[in-house]
Amino acid sequence: MSDLKKIRDEFISKLKGKLTLAELNQIKSDLFGKNGLVSSQFKKIGTIDASERKKFASDLNIIKDELHDLIILKINEIEKANINEKLEKEKIDVTLPERSFVRGKIHPVSQTIDEISSIFSEIGFSVEEGPDVENEYNNFTALNTPDNHPARDMHDTFYLDEKKKRLLRTHTSPVQIRTMLKDKPPFKIIAPGRTYRSDSDQTHSPMFHQVEGLHIDKNINMGHLKGCLNYFIKEFFEVKKIKMRFRPSHFPFTEPSAEVDIGYEIKDGKIIIGEGDQWLEILGCGMVHPNVLKNVKVDPAKFQGYAFGIGIDRLAMLKYGINDLRAFFDCDYRWLNHFGFDPLDVPTNYRGLSR
Ligand code: PHE
Repeated sequence: MSDLKKIRDEFISKLKGKLTLAELNQIKSDLFGKNGLVSSQFKKIGTIDASERKKFASDLNIIKDELHDLIILKINEIEKANINEKLEKEKIDVTLPERSFVRGKIHPVSQTIDEISSIFSEIGFSVEEGPDVENEYNNFTALNTPDNHPARDMHDTFYLDEKKKRLLRTHTSPVQIRTMLKDKPPFKIIAPGRTYRSDSDQTHSPMFHQVEGLHIDKNINMGHLKGCLNYFIKEFFEVKKIKMRFRPSHFPFTEPSAEVDIGYEIKDGKIIIGEGDQWLEILGCGMVHPNVLKNVKVDPAKFQGYAFGIGIDRLAMLKYGINDLRAFFDCDYRWLNHFGFDPLDVPTNYRGLSR
């Protein structure tokens, strides 16, 4: 019997037995691997006498195809059998109750930041960000608040080292410094973000949110500041008219400085923004102090402008009737489910900008 026929017969009988997938793969490599039986027969072709070479090559090809087809057939058979076995063993219990479907909600603070950003972007402000961990220079010194200035104590600062060089920013005003240091005027930015002070009660939380505003250009005056804030408050509270008053105040980084109150009244247990005889403080603002501009290499003789800092959490509480600030950060799922926003609901003053 020729070598070829021997190989064929031997493997055909092997393939008839019951084989596992691993055994079949082994046979496949015994035959067709680099030094497999069939492969080595091919290498022999050149050494065979010319008269028999053609027939040998043709027989070899036929046997190669036959064995190869058989192996593939067997592999398919085994895979099919494995699937059938699995299908028989696995049962789906169609009586099991389905898992409840929980859809996340947008936190009122995130919602409010989105609304604020879109309102300011309408009048040309872009959004800047700064880190929560700041150095004392950006948070105080560059903002015209030198060492030993009483404002440093008033801020109840969380310091991160003994030398009081690193701290958790006490306001978003250091983003003014970062922005002006990295670019050239004019500047027209808002900077929303987290801020920290060691303080906690129903209306104060050690972590809270502010949005900073900064507009520096040639000939910017307090009238622009008033117009900008008036527009913002009306848009934010979705009212046509707003009662607003500027109370003289003091911040080291603005001169003159003011705190802004808006009018409100309580009607049928509900707060109505924009009318009435009561006043509510919502932000601090002023014309940027020349010393601040000098610190960031902006010439105060050529450029000036205004800045403001608004408490975001307070705005959210007012707009959405939430009366305890601490609940914002309790991570109580029931609270969030009640006060949170459906991601697919588009608020009335939403203009497509998102954080
Ligand atoms: N940074 C001030 C604060 O946190 C607010 C403010 C910002 C005031 C910008 C004036 C100008 O109280």
